[in-house]
Amino acid sequence: METVVVTGAAGFIGSHLSERLLKDKFKVIGIDCFTNYYSKEIKKKNLETCLQNENFTFIEDDLMDVDLATIFKKSKLLFHEAAQPGVRSSWGKEFDTYVKDNIQVTQRILEIAKDVKTLEKIVMASSSSIYGNQPGKMSEDTLPRPVSPYGVTKLASENLGFVYAQNFNLPVTSLRYFTVYGPRQRPDMAFTRFIRANLEGSKITIYGNGSQSRDFTFVSDIVDANILVSESKIHGNALNIGGGSVHTIKEVIKMIENTTGVESKIVFEPPQKGDVLKTESNIEKASKILRYKPNIMLKKGLIEQVNWFKKTFEC
Ligand code: NAD
Ligand code: UGA
Repeated sequence: METVVVTGAAGFIGSHLSERLLKDKFKVIGIDCFTNYYSKEIKKKNLETCLQNENFTFIEDDLMDVDLATIFKKSKLLFHEAAQPGVRSSWGKEFDTYVKDNIQVTQRILEIAKDVKTLEKIVMASSSSIYGNQPGKMSEDTLPRPVSPYGVTKLASENLGFVYAQNFNLPVTSLRYFTVYGPRQRPDMAFTRFIRANLEGSKITIYGNGSQSRDFTFVSDIVDANILVSESKIHGNALNIGGGSVHTIKEVIKMIENTTGVESKIVFEPPQKGDVLKTESNIEKASKILRYKPNIMLKKGLIEQVNWFKKTFEC
């Protein structure tokens, strides 16, 4: 059995990816320090299935401190999911955390990986937020122009991957995820907030007029993309991973109402700084190079997230 490493293993995406790798018969070393961006209890729950598997080793430590050299020496693949996420909270004093967890951590990982030389593939989580506001579909050759401090740090992280791939031939590929949803979605993200408010009878807050749209991507499609990269021969690329479901926030709220059978109470607040109006991914490159294809469209994925929410929070 081969050993692989997942950083951010207790997070939304990292926990799904770890479960899939265990199913695919890898030994998984998951690293996470339970940052306080959201509750440690939620992150521990994300890990429950993994922890029942004897092939899963969990290391609770900060990626700035943990002995990565020893871990990498026994590993073949690295999936770097850990980061400080969240577009709208990346202003002001919080920026220090974004710089540490999204830039310094990545640089430390890459430095150690280049010295250890054992990793055959490094897959890094990048983000649609590196693009900023773009008129049409976002393609990999579109000039990145982030409009949030978060996006700036994700672009820096991705560029560091490119720098180490160019200079040291490190096998790095970055995947630009487009707004990910599904079971375990982070509590600060729109769907989780909307579903909670709808089911609890509290108010949904729409920032702006709700006409902003996203290319929503179901979490299992993101996991598939990571696996496809790990099985491919490519490196040095950055690839869009979108879900092919472009919808406005207002449409999403209607779909949630149709799923739960409950009407939402809605209040409007001004648009948030750093938010883009629209994301839409061109996934031709990933589809050509990786044969990536999103499998779960919004209606189906939303039902899964609503069902997960009801089961987890008993409502
Ligand atoms: P998440 O917050 O649920 O998971 C990230 C995990 O990383 C957390 O559990 C956190 O504790 C851990 N972590 C952060 N800094 C760490 C450090 N220094 N040491 C150890 N652990 C640390 O976030 P997520 O939504 O699962 O996002 C995963 C990745 O995908 C991130 O890189 C994020 O930027 C990227 N991404 C997410 C989305 C999305 O819609 N969720 C979209 C685009 C990109
Ligand atoms: C998401 C993730 O949170 C980022 O970590 C990620 O990098 C990014 O996707 C990406 O694709 O790169 P975002 O698209 O802002 O960011 O996703 P949500 O937090 O789910 O917000 C979606 C939209 O809903 C935004 O326009 C937001 O303003 C709006 N929203 C959110 C509301 O109107 N009300 C809320 O209560 C929450």
